[in-house]
Amino acid sequence: MEDIKGDKIPGERPRWEPKLDFTPRQIYDEMSRFVIGQERAVRTIAIAAYNHIKRIIHPNDLLKKSNVLMVGPTGSGKTHIARTLAGALNVPFTVTNATDYTEAGYYGKDVEVMVAELLFATGGDVRAAERGIIFIDEIDKIARRSGGQRTGASGRDIGGEGVQQAILKLLEANRVFVPLNVTQHWNKHDFVPMEVGNILFICAGTFSDMKRGRDRGDIGFLGESADDKSTYPVAVRDLESYGLLAELLGRLPVIVELDPLTDDELMHIVTDPPDSLLREYQAMFEYEQITIEMCDDGLRAIAAKARERGTGARGLRAMFEEMFHDLAFTAPERMGENVVVDADFVNANLVEAKKPRRREAED
Ligand SMILES: Nc1ncnc2c1ncn2[C@@H]1O[C@H](COP(=O)(O)OP(=O)(O)OP(=O)(O)O)[C@@H](O)[C@H]1O
Ligand SMILES: [Mg+2]
Repeated sequence: MEDIKGDKIPGERPRWEPKLDFTPRQIYDEMSRFVIGQERAVRTIAIAAYNHIKRIIHPNDLLKKSNVLMVGPTGSGKTHIARTLAGALNVPFTVTNATDYTEAGYYGKDVEVMVAELLFATGGDVRAAERGIIFIDEIDKIARRSGGQRTGASGRDIGGEGVQQAILKLLEANRVFVPLNVTQHWNKHDFVPMEVGNILFICAGTFSDMKRGRDRGDIGFLGESADDKSTYPVAVRDLESYGLLAELLGRLPVIVELDPLTDDELMHIVTDPPDSLLREYQAMFEYEQITIEMCDDGLRAIAAKARERGTGARGLRAMFEEMFHDLAFTAPERMGENVVVDADFVNANLVEAKKPRRREAED
């Protein structure tokens, strides 16, 4: 490992050894252990990652950077897929929120801080950070706002279009000066130059109220009465009318669309991944020798309730906490019990949310 000045730290094994000999299929297979459903999206990401690695190993001016834009409903796996990709490739990863940034010179973070956060995640390993993945969430929240709704000084759109411009510049940059002191960024004198040309950027948003199929001649008397427009695939034009800059979209050539998760997929998410909620909760009660037996109708009831709550897989963890609240409290008094989680158990323990639930923190 090297520290930020490029000096070797003796005796330390490099923590980040990117796996550079993956095929798209291998990336897909590795990711599919953790990601349920979303096959098309994961395949597209696997191809983008593969091309990205190819570009790093065999630089070629004709190969364009395959930065990604993910569009999908809440809790469908946008952050999860990006994080899983970083894990599969063994490269550093950071999640950042587009709404935290402002146009340079205004109160708020400068976009260079994104790279600083990535560097921070490596513990100062510049070389590793230069091949990392930056996930920019809520990109839909910095869409250009129409005249009347503008806020900020003298009608400038410093939090919307201004940030898009700043992100665009970062995506186009080869080298940026990264502030080392992220927490006190008013203290702007410590910088490290970093090559950012090989950082993979993945932007994501729900774009929940985006109109699809607009300007494509599908709206008319027939079009109006035709099926729900949300079944149209996202087109660059839709994203532009939503308020993303054409130039920014040009730098995000890979558009990945995620579907809402079905009940079956939600059921698999509870049980299948190596770090699934069910495994986690079974491990939690191992010490008390309490076994948790998940029945099919219990699983189905959980999935149905998660779908009703409309938060996709995001709501599952909160539901598990609620369901096992009583057991967690009484576990030491119930040593060795076998707890059967069937539909009755689920319905008895999952009280319908009476008060608005706190949105689960980004994991
Ligand atoms: N397709 C999936 N396969 C497996 N687990 C998933 C999937 N989608 C979501 N999850 C689980 O649900 C959690 C929340 O999902 P995630 O944070 O990826 O949602 P999101 O699409 O980013 O939503 P938001 O728009 O609200 O940020 C993840 O941490 C993961 O545990
Ligand atoms: Mg997310």
